[in-house]
Amino acid sequence: ARGEEIMFTSNNTAREDFLEAARDGGCILNLDDISLLPKVPEFPELICFRYNPGPRRTGNAIIGNPVEAKYGLAHHQVIEAYRQAIDRGARRFGIHTMVVSNERNYRSMVQTVAMLFDLIAEVSRALGIRFEFMNMGGGLGIPYRPEDTPLDLSALAAEVTALFGRFREKNGYVPRLYMESGRFMTGPHGALVTTAINRKEIYRTYIGVDACMSALMRPGMYGAYHHISVPAKRSQPPAGPVDVVGSLCENNDKFAIQRELPAIADGDLLVIHDTGAHGHAMGFNYNGRLRPQELLLRSDGSVELIRRAETLEDLFATLRFAADRLQP
Ligand SMILES: Cc1ncc(COP(=O)(O)O)c(C=O)c1O
Repeated sequence: ARGEEIMFTSNNTAREDFLEAARDGGCILNLDDISLLPKVPEFPELICFRYNPGPRRTGNAIIGNPVEAKYGLAHHQVIEAYRQAIDRGARRFGIHTMVVSNERNYRSMVQTVAMLFDLIAEVSRALGIRFEFMNMGGGLGIPYRPEDTPLDLSALAAEVTALFGRFREKNGYVPRLYMESGRFMTGPHGALVTTAINRKEIYRTYIGVDACMSALMRPGMYGAYHHISVPAKRSQPPAGPVDVVGSLCENNDKFAIQRELPAIADGDLLVIHDTGAHGHAMGFNYNGRLRPQELLLRSDGSVELIRRAETLEDLFATLRFAADRLQP
């Protein structure tokens, strides 16, 4: 992807990020704050702002309440932001927001599109500009639990199309609709496969596996549910609640808490589902843990190594010091 096929949504942006964003054909710059306007080194002709509706919306569990979210312009800053962008040479415009995350209720996205149309009308009235696009953000949810109902894409499409139709009737044009459906497209198509290596019986039963939170942070970071299956024991009944844990010195290093699973023995493979989004990409090296390899399962059944596992050399690659020797 190049140029306007890329949208750079930054937050607390550094000068180097702006310079990088403008290189090699540039991108659509989606500015997060009014204070950043004079800090953009080369102001582009096409500009977008991220909008934070504040008390006008409630957000949802993962992204939180918009009033407490660090993203985007406050409502009262929006017109002034576009005015200053025009002063800096902007001639083409877009608007962006992201109010929910992993949301399976399509109505909240319809509400977002309606909200952006209202905002477009308000800014257009004040400044006499047209909007080339609206970006309704990510947040399209996936069913992480077996009993979850999926997002109703057809209903979303029908209601959003109707809103676009109404806008066209009133204004004689429509902006393009962009969305950021990364999780929706990739989340269900990844799995973290790990091996049980220990079983510990204290006040609770712990199944220790050879992966840890450094390879999948979501459960530890915000209590996200990831379904776990034990393929070799698919037909076996639940054998009591267990916590499935990694090896970090953090008590939130748990893939599941009090989960009913079949009786697990050392050596059993556990499949942690729906890790195709916010999995490896959020990985980290705390406690010296190394990030795992990634395998691609092709539709013809073949398997390809698309990322090798990290090694100790990788872990120490950025260190610069001469090794000490202990002289007893
Ligand atoms: C601007 C923006 N778009 C998309 C996403 C990811 O959304 P999703 O969870 O739907 O992939 C984020 C995540 O924080 C984001 O900040």
